[in-house]
Amino acid sequence: MRTIDWIPADDAEREPGRGFIRLVDQTLLPDSLVELDIHDLDVLVDAIQRLAVRGAPALGVAGALGVALAAQNLPADLARQAIAELREARPTAVNLAYGVDTALAALERGGALAALEAALRVRDADIAACVAMAERGTDALTRLIPDRAALTVLTICNTGALAAVEHGTALGVVAKLHRDGRLVRAIACETRPLLQGARLTAWELGRMGASYDVIVDSAAAITLARGGVDAVLVGADRIAANGDTANKIGTFAVALAAARAGVPFLVVAPETTIDPATPNGDAIEIEDRGGAEVRFFRGVRVTPPDATALNPAFDVTPADLITAIVTDARVIDVVAGDTPASDTPAARPV
Ligand code: MRU
Repeated sequence: MRTIDWIPADDAEREPGRGFIRLVDQTLLPDSLVELDIHDLDVLVDAIQRLAVRGAPALGVAGALGVALAAQNLPADLARQAIAELREARPTAVNLAYGVDTALAALERGGALAALEAALRVRDADIAACVAMAERGTDALTRLIPDRAALTVLTICNTGALAAVEHGTALGVVAKLHRDGRLVRAIACETRPLLQGARLTAWELGRMGASYDVIVDSAAAITLARGGVDAVLVGADRIAANGDTANKIGTFAVALAAARAGVPFLVVAPETTIDPATPNGDAIEIEDRGGAEVRFFRGVRVTPPDATALNPAFDVTPADLITAIVTDARVIDVVAGDTPASDTPAARPV
């Protein structure tokens, strides 16, 4: 099963390129595995904003396929406006803008069919990138922790297949450790307020047959301090040129605790998550999702009725807390002073 894909329409042979987007509705997991068929760009933008599809790589593919959908369904002026709205649907993950821009450039060069071909290349590049990251990530762990045959790792948010197309980034590394018989246990931070760790990462770990525990986010520090974790593996929504990394809210606190405990902290993300135009973390826009997600828990109010709440969806982990950034093309030894910008830039996949 793919988290997100393009489904050719029944009449696609007569009209090449016609089709629609199919994606797993992640708001319903872990209780129901339901796929949504999306024929309109408005519906796609809504799915992105309510996190039916989420995770930086999946957002990149959604952005690219969304351009193909708009090009097929809308007159040029309306398509341009709808595509601009799609690009802005969520601000922090650079992959969304990357996916939109890549398919849009193809649309302007060669029309709707070219846009679809470019979008499918973004999808296929994501699948290949995740396989490469799993290889590089497990090799990097062997190099960093040579004395441990099998590892307990801690992660936050969901960086698995649900955050990409077929495999994940950080959780893809965990899955490979498990397949190789090198995973003792995974510890998944629940990831307040929307529980991507408790709902989605736990669901994926269970399906792969891995041993795991869910912890509340605030238990990460003591879990690390007590020596029960060999490495922290997280994903990224945007990596600045100096290595500062935006990821799900709570990641910065985990990085601080990992540094205090002397535990390697690895960011695993495709090259497309590196944004050379963003010099450092201060320049990364952090999505504000509004107070309701904090004040209510699955529809039940948990604060006084008139309480106000802050809800930044992401934080920025400074590069000096990151041991290494593992991409599909390279391992950037941040702890040794390398940055995404100073290290050899790898070719973009599309
Ligand atoms: O708000 P979300 O669920 O889209 O946040 C996702 C994350 O923060 C992930 O860690 C990140 O996108 C990397 S996914 C491989």
